[in-house]
Amino acid sequence: MFKKGEKMALAKSLKMFLTIFVATTCIYMVLYQYHLSREPITQPKYIKPPLYIITPTYRRAEQLAELTRLGYTLKHVVNLLWLVIEDANQTSPLVIHTLNRIGVPYEYFLAPMPDEYKNTKKAKPRGVSNRNRGLDYIRANATSGVFYFADDDNTYDISIFEQMRYTQKVSMWPVGLVTKFGVSTPIIRNGKITGFYDGWIGGRKFPVDMAGFAVSVKFLHERPNAKMPFKAGYEEDGFLKSLAPLNLTDIELLASNCTEILTWHTQTKKNANASPLNLTLHGDTNLVSLNTFLVRT
Ligand code: UGA
Ligand code: MN
Repeated sequence: MFKKGEKMALAKSLKMFLTIFVATTCIYMVLYQYHLSREPITQPKYIKPPLYIITPTYRRAEQLAELTRLGYTLKHVVNLLWLVIEDANQTSPLVIHTLNRIGVPYEYFLAPMPDEYKNTKKAKPRGVSNRNRGLDYIRANATSGVFYFADDDNTYDISIFEQMRYTQKVSMWPVGLVTKFGVSTPIIRNGKITGFYDGWIGGRKFPVDMAGFAVSVKFLHERPNAKMPFKAGYEEDGFLKSLAPLNLTDIELLASNCTEILTWHTQTKKNANASPLNLTLHGDTNLVSLNTFLVRT
């Protein structure tokens, strides 16, 4: 078919083609390696200020459900430490199991409500010993950032966490589903607080909801006596007053100057404790295992 001369010419050009192909590939590989080595390591320019979220909790039928819902909200927020503080005398393996499963960095402490308040017929100061325990932790362990009291049953838009992170002193914003007014908020006129809108003022200087303010860690450090009083209905006001000096003009307004609702004081329907499991009937089934997750007393 081909003459000898033609064959040789073909082999020669094939060899030349292969040489050029291999050489080009090698050059490209070297250049690519060089390009990769020059690529900056993706690193955040600066680390965001830490957030400390203080969550009181207590044993009841809804507890694990509430913690799960809140925990997965917090999972969307970076550089956050969740301080989960239970009103109980013993740690709960179920709470620990739930917190581990969610995977948000957390600390878990106990802070039982003192008996004198627990046994009263009057309204109880709920979550107060828990929150004061959270303040103790912050005083001992935190140097910068911001803390926030997040009850386990409320609803939080994650953007409020990014906004509160930069609080210099105290920040405030509206909370939905509070009293028959539907919202509890500072009233803003020309960019300034002129009062508070809340269905129950009760002679409070700061008639706001627990979910409606955050405080800078540095600001707390400068006020070593600040704490929450065991006074039902006056927990927020008492705590904010204990942060004196704190003027209305010091308060930073979030949620677009208090024009948006990003937190809600949702309340879960109270569920009855589960009725006892009949072990004779179900003792060899999955119900035995499920039984360990239910609240009975
Ligand atoms: C409202 C406010 O949002 C609370 O911040 C405030 O402490 C409370 O009123 C009050 O004035 O006593 P509310 O929804 O009525 O809260 O109360 P709960 O949600 O039942 O309790 C507030 C927090 O304390 C929750 O995180 C809850 O888990 C915890 N809590 C409640 C306890 O640790 N122990 C209790 O016996 C009851
Ligand atoms: Mn609540």
